[in-house]
Amino acid sequence: MRPVLLNWPGRQPESPAAAPPVDLQPVLCLPSAGTDRGRLRLLQGPAQRVADRLLQEGMAGTFDLIHLDPPFGSDANYGRIRDIEVDGRSATLTLPAYGDDDGGDLAGYLEGLEPVLRRCHRLLSPRGSFYLHLDFRRGPYVRLLLDEIFGADHLLNEIVWAYGLGGSSRRRFQRKHDVLYFYAKDLKQHWFSAPSEAATSSMLAGQPKRATDTWQTPDRDDAAPLLRAWPDPLIEKTLSNRDPERTGYPTQKPLALATRIIQASLPPDGKMLDLMAGSGTVGIAALLLGRDAVLGDQSPVALDVARGRAVAAGAEIRLERVEPQDPLVDIPIAPVLLQRSSERNQARLTTLNLPLWTDRLGDGETDAWLRTCATTRGADLLGAWGVAEDRGHTGLFALAWWDGAAPRTREAVRQELSWSMGSETGAPLWWVGYDVAGRGFRSRIT
Ligand SMILES: C[S@@+](CC[C@H](N)C(=O)[O-])C[C@H]1O[C@@H](n2cnc3c(N)ncnc32)[C@H](O)[C@@H]1O
Repeated sequence: MRPVLLNWPGRQPESPAAAPPVDLQPVLCLPSAGTDRGRLRLLQGPAQRVADRLLQEGMAGTFDLIHLDPPFGSDANYGRIRDIEVDGRSATLTLPAYGDDDGGDLAGYLEGLEPVLRRCHRLLSPRGSFYLHLDFRRGPYVRLLLDEIFGADHLLNEIVWAYGLGGSSRRRFQRKHDVLYFYAKDLKQHWFSAPSEAATSSMLAGQPKRATDTWQTPDRDDAAPLLRAWPDPLIEKTLSNRDPERTGYPTQKPLALATRIIQASLPPDGKMLDLMAGSGTVGIAALLLGRDAVLGDQSPVALDVARGRAVAAGAEIRLERVEPQDPLVDIPIAPVLLQRSSERNQARLTTLNLPLWTDRLGDGETDAWLRTCATTRGADLLGAWGVAEDRGHTGLFALAWWDGAAPRTREAVRQELSWSMGSETGAPLWWVGYDVAGRGFRSRIT
């Protein structure tokens, strides 16, 4: 057979040179909350470098599921939106999360993505599945690359995720779907667990059976079967602005869609990888189902959201950064846009030095202390967390979290702090925080 290949001016064959070594900087470890959740490893850095690091660690052929939801070529810049209260007034804070504005440079986009896709193929186990989520813009081109890398006959499904919200226009038909390309690494050893549906035959009535033929939309007159390859009221939804699942991270996908992928393609003893994880949706679905996940993203804002979701899920977390930089200087990724009612202020993250804090705080004083420290330096506090270096210098340990947008009870924070302050490690403690203007600060506590 004559292979059909995608080409563009300047396309280079993959370089056979070994990738330069990738160093890691540990940022924090958080023990599990004693649940049966999976373990999460978060890696902040560009996808190609994160993949090189995993290969360097000998993880080729070890991931049973790899999911990628890259930028779509949408010609937009995205920010994480948070509703906050400043001086009793509600306001919206937008933290720049990632850019998807390459000026229509399709060749540049493919050149950036191809090495990542090739590394994903190497990282997949023989029973592994690969899902790539895109839309009509870049999808057809990337599919040709995937056919080249995986083999065209390894494409198991082009899944159409048809959704309800958005995409309408007066100038064209509505745009109401994304696509997911679903490939198997090895057709003979591939692992797949078909979704279940209620059996209707008189023998099995009411019992679950494998839905191998099709997934029917229950009782929907308006169902459009051709557009709804996965017709299911759960995954059909997009997240409305008020959906409780929303983290404020742009382009966040629904947990139900991610759960369907995990259930079908991640064996209970398997681990998954997402190198462009954003708010971490697919990894969070894996953790909630007791599977292990490795999530990467180059945006610290993304990994901060994923970290928060994993904390809420009670998972064990390890956060590392490739190509180490000072963790605090690294927080400021870009100017931060703060919208207060009609005002628009530009601010940059800076490091504020807080006074040493040696005494334990009483009940309810943690927030007040942090707020005072921040506001006396001209910053409104948005969130903060405490970390300690462990004795073996293998990492930093997260001690307590405080999130101005979704605060935990003061009592809970106090208890964690008392525990940490009373711990035997004798290691120095730090507070690290960031304010509503996105400014970061830190303070050594002991
Ligand atoms: C469409 S979003 C992913 C959204 C995610 N599925 C969710 O549910 O939140 C794409 C993500 O890719 C990340 N990204 C873009 N280019 C990257 C690169 N070269 N390396 C690592 N991450 C990248 C962006 O920071 C962004 O978080």
